[in-house]
Amino acid sequence: MIYRKIIIVVLALLALHSCTEPGDKNIEINETLAEKEEVINLPDSVFFWSDIVPVVYKNCTPCHHENGAGPFPLTAYEDLKKRTKTIRLAVADGFMPPWPADPEYRHFKGEKTLTSYERAVILEWISQGAQEGDKPEIVPQPTLLAEQNPGPPDLIIPFPDTIRIEGNNRDKFIVAKMSFELPVDTFLRAIYFAPGNKELLHHVNGHLLNYQYDNKSDLFEGTWIHDAEKSTTAQAYKSMQITHDDGTYPPLLASAFNYLPGVEALDYPEGIGGVFVNRKATFLLNTLHYGPSPADTFDFSEVHIYFAEKRPERPLREIHLGTLGITPVVPKFIIPADTISNFSTRYVVPEDISLLTINPHMHLLGTIFKAYAVSVTKQDTIPLIHIPKWDFRWQYFYTFEKMLKIPKGYEIVAEATFDNTMNNPLNPNNPPKSMTAAGAHMKTTDEMFQFFISYVPFRAGDENIKL
Ligand code: HEC
Repeated sequence: MIYRKIIIVVLALLALHSCTEPGDKNIEINETLAEKEEVINLPDSVFFWSDIVPVVYKNCTPCHHENGAGPFPLTAYEDLKKRTKTIRLAVADGFMPPWPADPEYRHFKGEKTLTSYERAVILEWISQGAQEGDKPEIVPQPTLLAEQNPGPPDLIIPFPDTIRIEGNNRDKFIVAKMSFELPVDTFLRAIYFAPGNKELLHHVNGHLLNYQYDNKSDLFEGTWIHDAEKSTTAQAYKSMQITHDDGTYPPLLASAFNYLPGVEALDYPEGIGGVFVNRKATFLLNTLHYGPSPADTFDFSEVHIYFAEKRPERPLREIHLGTLGITPVVPKFIIPADTISNFSTRYVVPEDISLLTINPHMHLLGTIFKAYAVSVTKQDTIPLIHIPKWDFRWQYFYTFEKMLKIPKGYEIVAEATFDNTMNNPLNPNNPPKSMTAAGAHMKTTDEMFQFFISYVPFRAGDENIKL
């Protein structure tokens, strides 16, 4: 965690430096992220109840409440008062609320961002000494994020065992498999990951393996967890024995479910989405990411599944660009030591499609990510996403507000920047080493450049369907 604090401090100094004295109504905020200047009108005296509650109850308490995804509640005055130092750093830096995508480039469903005014008013309140002010007679209620869980599940699949997390103050990356047998092949309407250790579990990518049931005698053979940093994915899969009896790999449905703190469950419109599952199947968690912990602790999580009544009419499809995907990374994906390098990957859309979610993926060296769809003949660009300051811990599946049509012939372009110098505090190598994506033999400390798109073939009217 030490590196994060350093980044926050540096940027916070920049942001605070540009605020003028308290009492000055026109505060000039030098937006460190967007590199633009804006004049914001703030009240002379800023108070908790009148000025801060409306901002915090809308933007922070959805996660920061008693049972929320945030590590502590930010509901009572005292909750904030005793944390003004860390709040100032997290807010000035843009680390909180966690939303790396630039809202001026593209808005998404469930977006969590502060306006320039909201950010300035929090910082100003803290620099004025975090005064409470008069408590109103009717105290407003904080917004709590609705539980992700869409009602009681049809089946709960727990971890086969408890995961022990060593207290060594390091991030941990684990590959795990959760196998299960059903009486018949079926369709799932929804899959929900129920975290056991909410404090430490940072993200989970869940894939689905569907086995030919006469070609897999024992689903449960092999180890069920593997340290993703100690060996390659191929070695992990070997010790987990995830192949069929004849040595072939079962088909993998990528991103059948995902977990990130504070993300609401995806509730697709009627007839869209859904997952086919064989009676012998495995959820492959690649990876489970736990944040650092100073003391030994444990996690016991579950996957909740919901059966669909009928076959989904429009099942989701996926385009996977870049590393291990269908399009090459250009130039060849090698990031020499001590350089900042740019790469791109491109895909021409062969038919009209409607996008639902997008997921940019890089590891620790990534710094900027941008994607758009472009038509040279029509001189048209459809912005998809811009992440000006990549944060590997917040890898959202960004969901469009409405289904987004990309016409046939448009080229989807993803561009990324990687910083493999010592100036990147997350660089896993000191001194920096030349980095690449070593084929399928991936470790978390290797680098990757991927862009995942979930879509359905376009139908008239899709543009008006809210997600
Ligand atoms: C999407 C959920 C979410 C929202 C919204 C959110 N937080 Fe957080 N917050 C978290 C999580 C999760 C962590 C723990 C992060 C970690 O350790 O990786 C955290 C950590 C923090 C920390 C500790 C940072 C540190 O360096 O240890 C502060 C302070 C904080 N949040 C303040 C805020 C404030 C203020 C807001 C609103 C302006 C906010 N958060 C909005 C989820 C959220």
